[in-house]
Amino acid sequence: MSADPTTPVLELRDARRTFGSGPAAVHALGGVSLTLHAGRSLAVTGRSGSGKSTLLNVLGLLETLTDGQYLVAGQDVRTLGTAAVDALRAHTFGFVFQSFHLVPYLTVAENVELGLTYQRHGSRARRAHIAELLERVGLTHRRSSTVATLSGGEKQRAAVARALVRRPAVLLADEPTGNLDDASAAAVLDLFDGVTADGVALVMVTHDLQTAARADERLTMRDGRALA
Ligand SMILES: Nc1ncnc2c1ncn2[C@@H]1O[C@H](COP(=O)(O)OP(=O)(O)OP(=O)(O)O)[C@@H](O)[C@H]1O
Ligand SMILES: [Mg+2]
Repeated sequence: MSADPTTPVLELRDARRTFGSGPAAVHALGGVSLTLHAGRSLAVTGRSGSGKSTLLNVLGLLETLTDGQYLVAGQDVRTLGTAAVDALRAHTFGFVFQSFHLVPYLTVAENVELGLTYQRHGSRARRAHIAELLERVGLTHRRSSTVATLSGGEKQRAAVARALVRRPAVLLADEPTGNLDDASAAAVLDLFDGVTADGVALVMVTHDLQTAARADERLTMRDGRALA
């Protein structure tokens, strides 16, 4: 990652993603441009089918562009080979999926540790890092509980801890407060404020305008395009 603070950590230039072809083609992204710097947050809103998840997947290198440019820390991802894209995805991005993607029969700490499976860490450093993260998300008292026994808000915070375990430069979250009551949603958003204060860039998809209002920047999607 470039350490130059003037280079955006993420930049899309006229990004397009089309699914299918001919009359059945869906232009999920029809020319989206955006920049996001380290430590900034962006909320993506828009109605169902407007391209929000596609945008998040493109940013997280889970989906490729049909046309346009995507630069991560100033580097055009099209110039990278598969192995380099895989490494960039693993080291740059943390994902919080709407459905958590936690393993229900493992404990909170084990789920967080899963995020580190393919990284070499001494077990002591690894445990200390996980303990620190669980403290940060307020789950220290639940570290040995199986995920199946957690509340929705606790699961969401466990998912955030797992997304942060590799110290990503960018956190991508799809409806991170979607299933939460007001207090739990506020706890997750407070957590995000701390994360961006540490220099992490945050992109979150949300249906909730109050949640969106807390972000530094907002992007409203309609039919694959950003409304001005
Ligand atoms: N893999 C795919 N193949 C074909 N069409 C797709 C694919 N992924 C997304 N689409 C289409 O692209 C459009 C945008 O989908 P996307 O999932 O990005 O919407 P969204 O804004 O996240 O919606 P929601 O709020 O319902 O989650 C939709 O019309 C969708 O059906
Ligand atoms: Mg979606």
